[in-house]
Amino acid sequence: MKGIILAGGKGTRLRPATLVMNKHLIPILNKPMVLYPIETLRDVFGIKDILIVSGGDHIGGFAEFLGDGSEYGVELTYRVQTQAGGIAQALALAENFAQGESIAVILGDNIFDAKALKKSSKNLKKSNNATLFLKEVPDAERFGVPTLNQKGKIVKITEKPQKPDSSYAVTGLYLYPGDVFKKVKKLKPSARGELEITDVNQMYVQEGKCNDIIFDGFWSDAGTPASLARTVLWAAEQSDIGTADDSSYLRLSP
Ligand code: DAU
Repeated sequence: MKGIILAGGKGTRLRPATLVMNKHLIPILNKPMVLYPIETLRDVFGIKDILIVSGGDHIGGFAEFLGDGSEYGVELTYRVQTQAGGIAQALALAENFAQGESIAVILGDNIFDAKALKKSSKNLKKSNNATLFLKEVPDAERFGVPTLNQKGKIVKITEKPQKPDSSYAVTGLYLYPGDVFKKVKKLKPSARGELEITDVNQMYVQEGKCNDIIFDGFWSDAGTPASLARTVLWAAEQSDIGTADDSSYLRLSP
């Protein structure tokens, strides 16, 4: 399986931090955000061959930081998305890289607890279906939201619904069979002018070819100030920062 990290877009919700810097290079503690999805693909799925898609104004920053990926145990390829035309438009650029194989796609701002995700994914089998990872959240209206039937199977997905049908978010980690690019080619821009990944997923749902895994570990879409702060706190908890010599800095009182 090959891996694809989508790290384009404008990062408007994190401005002004993202005016000159790509969102996915913002540090979470001492690690730029993009290292987390790299580690997820590498450590959870054993993927080494990874494509990073980002805008032309930022791709150089990724290459400067990550190089060929060998320092992080992966082999990286880069592609430029000339306009932020949506997640599925960015995915379309990966067709040649994928060479018809099944792929794992992850959004560059999606941070998962890799150990917990590995546990949740342990029964995964090679399949011609798409697999989505669902996470229960208090603010489902921010995300793609599944409507589930009584057996817990997805019957519909709605992007950022005003009144969510469930309290689950479709996270930004998608496992697709090789036919995903045929589906991407059928997409029409949404009301906000983007090619939506939710529309791709909805096609798999309609064909009865969409599996889902409920993930109960830490997950965050670090694309807003509040969720970025939450992610940094989680990362601090996971690290040895709490036991380091300077851990007293973690206390905010004077
Ligand atoms: O995080 C999970 C959510 O991500 C899903 O629940 C939603 O269904 C999905 O649409 C997406 O929602 P967001 O509003 O968070 O998408 P956003 O526009 O922030 O883009 C997320 C990532 O996708 C971003 O970090 C980089 C990549 N991207 C996005 C766009 C619009 C690209 O690579 N190119 C793009 O043109």
